[in-house]
Amino acid sequence: MTTELSSKPMEQDLFINGEYVKSASGKSFDVINPATGEVLSKVQEADKEDIDRAVKSAKAAFDTWSETPASTRSAILNKVADLLESRKEEFAKLETQNTGKPIVESMFLDLGLAIDCFRFYSAAARMIRGETIPVASGQLVYTLKDPVGVVGQIIPWNFPILMSAWKLGPALAAGNTVVLKPAEQTPVTALKLGELFNEAGLPPGVLNIVPGFGETAGAALVNHPDVDKIAFTGETKTGRLIMETASKTLKRVSLELGGKAPNIVFEDADLDNAVHGSLFAVYLNQGQACVSGSRLYVQESIYDKFMEKLLVAAQKIKVGNPLDMTTKVGALASKEQFDKVYSYVAIGKAEGAKLLLGGDKAGGDLSNGFFLNPTIFEAEHTMRITQEEVFGPFLSVIKFKDVNDAILKANDSQYGLAAALWTKNVNTAHTVARKIKAGTIWVNTYNFLFNEVPFGGFKNSGFGRELGLQALDMYTESKSICIDLGQHPNWFGL
Ligand code: NAI
Ligand code: MG
Repeated sequence: MTTELSSKPMEQDLFINGEYVKSASGKSFDVINPATGEVLSKVQEADKEDIDRAVKSAKAAFDTWSETPASTRSAILNKVADLLESRKEEFAKLETQNTGKPIVESMFLDLGLAIDCFRFYSAAARMIRGETIPVASGQLVYTLKDPVGVVGQIIPWNFPILMSAWKLGPALAAGNTVVLKPAEQTPVTALKLGELFNEAGLPPGVLNIVPGFGETAGAALVNHPDVDKIAFTGETKTGRLIMETASKTLKRVSLELGGKAPNIVFEDADLDNAVHGSLFAVYLNQGQACVSGSRLYVQESIYDKFMEKLLVAAQKIKVGNPLDMTTKVGALASKEQFDKVYSYVAIGKAEGAKLLLGGDKAGGDLSNGFFLNPTIFEAEHTMRITQEEVFGPFLSVIKFKDVNDAILKANDSQYGLAAALWTKNVNTAHTVARKIKAGTIWVNTYNFLFNEVPFGGFKNSGFGRELGLQALDMYTESKSICIDLGQHPNWFGL
């Protein structure tokens, strides 16, 4: 694979009713490679009219798809997984060019997990079932799991192909039809998925992919009366707005929102293990992950020893050309995101936090891109840099006293998506894991997500659980069927 960063701009159309088409307005927008600042793709811009076209085609396809045998839905999803696997390098390269993330991550994490996600939901399509409930003899009561209908899915720019898989897998497995709106910054790989679904034999209209801006395309989808459910991943502020708008048509809503995950190192932890895990926690994907371990709490008895090891290791992390297999930290996904993260360096300094590492833009060959060197601040628990979602390669380190202090600080946050702790003590591990209010708790590991395991948030991190068989609950309506096998009572004495 060539590591040449520049490339000739591509042109990409909207995917509606099984075909690649131009936008109604004829407008397009530039998608930028954040490692170079150059145009990667010129993409047709979906707006209200295109969303309406996409929703109409999804609605028209619903009866066919919802009545397609589970085995056929399963086979199509499995075929998509195979096709994506056969084009893994091509998709991984595009993902890296579009997001700035290291190619090693695109290949082995994003693509690896996305392929497996389609495989998991291929199997899950055949596992959907209701139950029979023996209420009384003479009564037959059972439940059906109906698909919800037309589902609008709005995804962010940090994991474009993976978020597409997380959203499409369970929705299509359960027999829904979908209008997927990728983030305006990163629609490249999501749009290409349309090719794979066509080749796999998905009927036209079952999946529509319509990139555009949040305030136009996104809002049109959330407002559309024929959309039955919105599944959203992104900023907490946007999630609130979506929930408010969706209330007017009483759409079902599931939200996977922001985070500020606490990562707690206890004095009895294997320190080298905890150092590696803590760096992986915060610098994976340049820290642009909702689960990013951006609040590091270190017990005061080991603080100096641990911090020395952490800083030595952090300095060795290779920031570089994202297409180079040895790069570990690439570019932030957009200029906007770079500016936001960089502004927190000034905020941290102004509130009296001590800058221990980084805080500066990478220079040399990387100076045209949006690269920030891995940054570490020694901070206080109450500071903005500890409380707010920075979403970058930016770590706040805070001391704590004991188990109770750790639990208190970990839970003192508006978010509750993920948390981790490092300890060899089984009592500490289980006690703390139970007490922390977050959807995923890692012990002596970080960032490991499995397609079998439910994922989602407490508090302002949202609600609903993606992944696992549990995700199917978000894409089905339960229907109870009650049959009287005997004589109906003559209640009115007629
Ligand atoms: P965002 O939440 O605005 O964007 C995510 C998706 O929502 C995009 O597809 C966007 O087009 C769409 N969207 C935006 N406004 C919308 C609206 N009014 N109606 C319908 N859809 C809408 O996030 P943004 O602005 O890109 O990033 C801002 C901050 O949010 C980041 O700096 C980060 O802190 C956080 N964020 C968190 C993510 C997570 O996974 N927890 C993912 C992305 C961003
Ligand atoms: Mg926004």
